[in-house]
Amino acid sequence: MLPLQLWVLVSAAATAFAATTPARRATVCNGHAEFCSRLYSNVTYVGAHDSFAFSQDPFALARDQEVDIPTQLKLGIRLLQGQAHMNSDNVLHFCHTSCSLFDGGSVLDYLKIVKTWLDQNPNEVLTLLFTNPEGWGPATVWRPIFDQAGISNLTYIPPSLPVKQSDWPTLGSMTDSGKRVVVFLDAEADGPDPTDIILPEFSMVWETPFSVTNASFPCSVDRIHGPLATEDHMYMINHSLNKNIIPIGSGVIITDPIDAPTTNGVPSILANANGCAPLGGNRAPWVVLLDYVNIGAGLQAADILNGIVKPSASSSAVSSSTAPTVTQKSAAVSDRPQHFAVISTLVVVSWVWAWI
Ligand SMILES: *[C@@H]1O[C@H](CO)[C@@H](O)[C@H](O)[C@H]1NC(C)=O
Ligand SMILES: *[C@@H]1O[C@H](CO)[C@@H](O)[C@H](O)[C@H]1NC(C)=O
Ligand SMILES: *[C@@H]1O[C@H](CO)[C@@H](O)[C@H](O)[C@H]1NC(C)=O
Ligand SMILES: *[C@@H]1O[C@H](CO)[C@@H](O)[C@H](O)[C@H]1NC(C)=O
Repeated sequence: MLPLQLWVLVSAAATAFAATTPARRATVCNGHAEFCSRLYSNVTYVGAHDSFAFSQDPFALARDQEVDIPTQLKLGIRLLQGQAHMNSDNVLHFCHTSCSLFDGGSVLDYLKIVKTWLDQNPNEVLTLLFTNPEGWGPATVWRPIFDQAGISNLTYIPPSLPVKQSDWPTLGSMTDSGKRVVVFLDAEADGPDPTDIILPEFSMVWETPFSVTNASFPCSVDRIHGPLATEDHMYMINHSLNKNIIPIGSGVIITDPIDAPTTNGVPSILANANGCAPLGGNRAPWVVLLDYVNIGAGLQAADILNGIVKPSASSSAVSSSTAPTVTQKSAAVSDRPQHFAVISTLVVVSWVWAWI
């Protein structure tokens, strides 16, 4: 047995050590040391549009991704988008347009997958941007799901709303505090049933229009509200190129993986970002939202927008090595069945036929 005096000494030393040991400091944030001191709002992230709507099956026309959530995150995707619908079993699901068209499973199961990744990657800041077309209550319907998935305690809760672009914390401080998940909802977050962990998107973010069918992506500010000036919002380029495969009436639009190598290529993304910069305080976009994130070079484009120069990507990368890469991938993808578009059209026509 140690004498009492020694115990006192040991415990005093332990207390002193605990008091002087600095809080954990991340030295690498979202993969880059220089990001730790950058504002959350001053980093360009690549987002996965309809992240839950993944399928390898080319006949799954309502898919917008090929690879699953862990693979998207592993690739470097740091914003996950999803569209929620109440399923017939009274459970909130992620579905594309309707759960009979594409049911991506329950929001709870999805968030549990995200939580596993968050636990394995403590130096990563992740944004969840969900759309709420049926207007389910943030506090009564959404919040309990985040609580159950164990994500609520990891969310960043701003001291006041709305947060100006220049007022977000740094990635380093978010990582150090463990509050490294930012959750936005496009509708109802500033409605009558709010909850602090879910932020209203459009008072702090503007988006380019969706359902774009023009490959030059003319930029304009879509869906914005609240007291902040446009340039005090972060902005997201909704960089999915849709195809109107039945140009009758309002048409039937889908995203086509055959276009993805070009659409998700560096030249197309940088052109869209450059076109939007004058509307966005001459800053790069906060998010580049893509379909088929595993195709093309979305993350390379983000590295360029973030000013990250990688040893493998010299300044000539944009003009020389990137272009052939894009071409090679185009060639590889066009090895897929040439009749894809025709078959897709036939499948959709038969669906539309069945619905009439
Ligand atoms: C959040 O963390 C606190 C303290 O660890 C815990 O008591 C609480 O139950 C957690 N809440 C949720 C929703 O997980
Ligand atoms: C982005 O574009 C898609 C399709 O063009 C649209 O469904 C979606 O609502 C837009 N916004 C977000 C946040 O996904
Ligand atoms: C596509 O966008 C470009 C750039 O804004 C514009 O010049 C062109 O007229 C647009 N094309 C169509 C068909 O709207
Ligand atoms: C971050 O700030 C730099 C310097 O002002 C700017 O060039 C860049 O576009 C900004 N990026 C974002 C995503 O705000």
